[in-house]
Amino acid sequence: MDKKLGVKILGTGSYFPKKVLTNADLEKMVETSDEWISSRTGIKERRIAKKNEYASDLAFNASVEALKAANISEKEIDLILVATITPDMFFPSTACFLQTKLGLNSSPAFDLSAACSGFIYGIAVARAFIESGLYKNVLLVGAEELSKITDWTNRDTCVLFGDGAGAMVLSASEENYDVLSTYIGADGSYSNLLFIPAGGSANPATVETVNAKMHTMKMQGRDVFKVAVLKMAYAAEKALELSDKKLKDIKLFIPHQANMRIIEAVAKKIGISMSRVFVNIYKTGNISSATTITALDEAIKTGKLQKGDIVELIAFGGGFTWGAAVIRI
Ligand code: COA
Repeated sequence: MDKKLGVKILGTGSYFPKKVLTNADLEKMVETSDEWISSRTGIKERRIAKKNEYASDLAFNASVEALKAANISEKEIDLILVATITPDMFFPSTACFLQTKLGLNSSPAFDLSAACSGFIYGIAVARAFIESGLYKNVLLVGAEELSKITDWTNRDTCVLFGDGAGAMVLSASEENYDVLSTYIGADGSYSNLLFIPAGGSANPATVETVNAKMHTMKMQGRDVFKVAVLKMAYAAEKALELSDKKLKDIKLFIPHQANMRIIEAVAKKIGISMSRVFVNIYKTGNISSATTITALDEAIKTGKLQKGDIVELIAFGGGFTWGAAVIRI
């Protein structure tokens, strides 16, 4: 009998723009303080892309690293997926720009929009394509430049976000089943709590929408906070159930890095100590779909994870969307 196709994770990579924006820098831009930002969010600094450095550039740098770690040539990639809410342009997709930068010109390439849950959605999509036998090697990227959709005069949001990209190469395998489970969900009735009002077909850009900064992120922080904790804990439990693993089998939990207090509340709700939770929000801020993959890549590079360890990625984002994935490194 034919063996079921599983998914092997071949390698990961990440990339951050060079410019660091600290809380002290923000103190000069809006009425805020390092004390407020640190105690309410856990963020100390974030990276900011240059004006002429696009999401596809960050994606490219992260992809080159992931391909190297995977020990695979870009020519062997037969599907490119980019999770992003800050694409270079509405269209063509950032995946198409990335494809060209990688020197490829025939593999299918498309973007995926699930806000901060984008990378988990991406794992679920890549997995479906691989397990069905349709594609063998998938390059999955989370790439964001939230600095470019941020209102830098609004202290409610501008202290929270940053830029960066992470990438993963996933491949078909009959021996290795590294993606043990994926669970994704959404509830569009919360769309008005975290969104960009203008620039799309609902409110095409006009002088008025631009003057009113309606092309930047709007957020009801407290409401987002509450639902984020509930849904991330729920997604974590569902993915664990689907994986047939127990809490004790997970070496490291990697939650979306939106707010340190959200991370701590999720850990408490799941019933794990913070020593088993990976945190790097203090130096990245929230980088949406790039968060879980860049955190995973850092955990691997710094030796917090060894080959064979089982990890749970957990995310939540605008939509609202949420999801979790149990994977073996
Ligand atoms: N610096 C100083 N003061 C600030 C501030 C800032 N950057 N931003 C807001 N404040 C003020 C508010 O104006 C308010 O003042 P008031 O009491 O005089 O009205 C006070 O701080 C408390 O604001 P509040 O919104 O209640 O704070 P909070 O404890 O809820 O923290 C967030 C705000 C945004 C940090 C928090 O709600 C949060 O992280 N929510 C989730 C956001 C998120 O993760 N979004 C992405 C999801 S993927």
